[in-house]
Amino acid sequence: MPLLFKKIKDLRNYLKSLRCEKKEIGFVPTMGYLHEGHRALIRTARNQNDVVVVSIFVNPTQFGEGEDYDRYPRDLNRDLAICEEEGVDVVFAPEVSEIYPKGYRTKVCVGELGKVLEGAFRPGHFDGVATIVVKLFNIVQPDRAYFGEKDYQQLKIIQQVVEDLNIPVEIVPIPTVRERDGLACSSRNVYLSPEERESALSLYKSFLLAEKMIKSGERDAERIKEAIKAFIESHPHVTGIDYVEITDENLNPKKVVEKGDRILLAVRIGNTRLIDNWKVEI
Ligand code: PAF
Repeated sequence: MPLLFKKIKDLRNYLKSLRCEKKEIGFVPTMGYLHEGHRALIRTARNQNDVVVVSIFVNPTQFGEGEDYDRYPRDLNRDLAICEEEGVDVVFAPEVSEIYPKGYRTKVCVGELGKVLEGAFRPGHFDGVATIVVKLFNIVQPDRAYFGEKDYQQLKIIQQVVEDLNIPVEIVPIPTVRERDGLACSSRNVYLSPEERESALSLYKSFLLAEKMIKSGERDAERIKEAIKAFIESHPHVTGIDYVEITDENLNPKKVVEKGDRILLAVRIGNTRLIDNWKVEI
């Protein structure tokens, strides 16, 4: 079993002794309810470091009003069993009061990149993400930290934060892990009924459709986005499309699609909001 810490002080003391022994620390921040995507992050961390630390913390400051903070799936014992299977050394699972004690004031503001795409629909979300990630980096002081490309905008924002605030950690991006039929792994997939899950596959299938259009010569971003929207909307249980965007790798919107661009989207299926993205490989 991995060592479980709930207090910052205890975790710090333990990691300090490892750092004295010149051990390299790999860190995988999570909100728990671990799935294959998390396993991929952990496995890479396991291969590249002496010690692997996983944090499990459903961070309230990245959820807006009316979002799913209360119903977000939580199961620490299940997560600990997965961490054991993957050879994790240390799990940090603090209470909210440990991370945000009474009177807590300071937050990280990520600026423009936090206001587009996801940020336009979830105001304050990325400031909450950046704040917790910086706090966790300061607590764990890892050599490397692992983030999935599934949350592509989050990954870009964390890279920006680390650069802007001179945080000495290497950010290692890990490609999105998909279930066998193409649905991107997400803790939120458990909200989907079997029928909704079927419709949720339209996200992945819409990327294949876009790839096909691009391969047959279409380069107009607007036309590709419209085709994606029409395709997804033709499925039952789709209750809304928040956005479909095509950007370069730094999230600048594109008019003419090129190799390496990203298609990003957020779609509501029933009451569940799913995000996904795709790298254009022409
Ligand atoms: O990607 C997530 O699970 C969360 O946003 C993170 C990075 C653990 C911060 O709470």
